[in-house]
Amino acid sequence: MAFETRTWLVLHVLVFLVTCFMQHFCVNGQTSQAPCLFVFGDSLSDNGNNNNILTNAKANYVPYGVDFPNGVTGRFTNGPTSIDYIGQMLGFQNFIPPFANIGRSDIINGVNYASGAAGIRAESGKHMGGNVDLGMQIANHRTIVTLIAIRLGGMPQAQQYLKKCLYYVNIGSNDFINNYYLPQYYPTSRTYNPQQYAQVLINQVSNYLQDLRVSGARKFVLVGIGQIGCTPFSIANQGTQGCVEKYNADALRYSLKLRSLVDQLNGINLDSKYIFVNSTAGSVDSSLGFTVFDKACCLTRSEDGMCVPNSSPCLDRKKYVFFDAVHPTSTLNYLTALTSYDSTSAPGTTTPMDIKQLAQYSIN
Ligand SMILES: *[C@@H]1O[C@H](CO)[C@@H](O)[C@H](O)[C@H]1NC(C)=O
Repeated sequence: MAFETRTWLVLHVLVFLVTCFMQHFCVNGQTSQAPCLFVFGDSLSDNGNNNNILTNAKANYVPYGVDFPNGVTGRFTNGPTSIDYIGQMLGFQNFIPPFANIGRSDIINGVNYASGAAGIRAESGKHMGGNVDLGMQIANHRTIVTLIAIRLGGMPQAQQYLKKCLYYVNIGSNDFINNYYLPQYYPTSRTYNPQQYAQVLINQVSNYLQDLRVSGARKFVLVGIGQIGCTPFSIANQGTQGCVEKYNADALRYSLKLRSLVDQLNGINLDSKYIFVNSTAGSVDSSLGFTVFDKACCLTRSEDGMCVPNSSPCLDRKKYVFFDAVHPTSTLNYLTALTSYDSTSAPGTTTPMDIKQLAQYSIN
């Protein structure tokens, strides 16, 4: 057994040394399909950025992380997030570190700026406390770009490197759930009708994507909003039988516009590639092993649908779609990651190509 393990190790080391020389990207001695991955978003992607922010939108307590290798980290689910899984599928050996706690991690492989309750609009989610909105996340990225330029010996070298990286942007739910649908805190529903509001959000996203391009980004993964009307929290809050159809319609309207923006940008910015990920493409049903679709796995707080601190989660977590009343379980995150990374098993999930193909796509 010991001998076998050692032989395997030697072989493994040889294989990755060779592939490292052939590919150009050696991440911690392993090969990844892109040199780096930068993550922008909300609680679906947050991996600890809210831990030291004064807000209710944080998940740095049990039972969050119950299935994560290092336990509680601030991730809003029981184990890895979908971008964690996508990172693994891309061949990154370590999880992409959170901007708020880079620690001794290497920023050269990417940084995660995502923040729970954050939106495209600066005010979204702020009734819960602080968060890092998309504009601030992009400002934080500029700081990282400067550090990478220092590290690589100049801005031209940094630009050459950064254009091969992936820029994943998964945000927008909070501009509805924690803004437009809360007229007691936010005036947006009085200022804009739903059609106008979707367009206002898209215009702002479009400007932010241009800012990222100015910072050297060329390969973009843009994720649409999921079925925000089907979370146990929305259903309980609105007292509907089944999903809140109005919420899903708003999410779809926004996502269709985002998909059009992707088409448009691919036509304009010929030095860049944008892909759209449809987060409602696959049907989540019992064929995937789920049996509980409308209840949270953990005991939840009525005010925000988050798990009650220190409560015990359900034991059969693989059967649940939702971990708390808002966020999917890691089981669903894995399936989401799989179909967006490689869409051959679920055509229509990504357009015009999947994440795997985007990683391989060459930018001049
Ligand atoms: C996502 O996929 C679903 C199911 O195929 C479809 O109904 C919906 O229109 C798609 N959304 C977008 C934004 O393309």
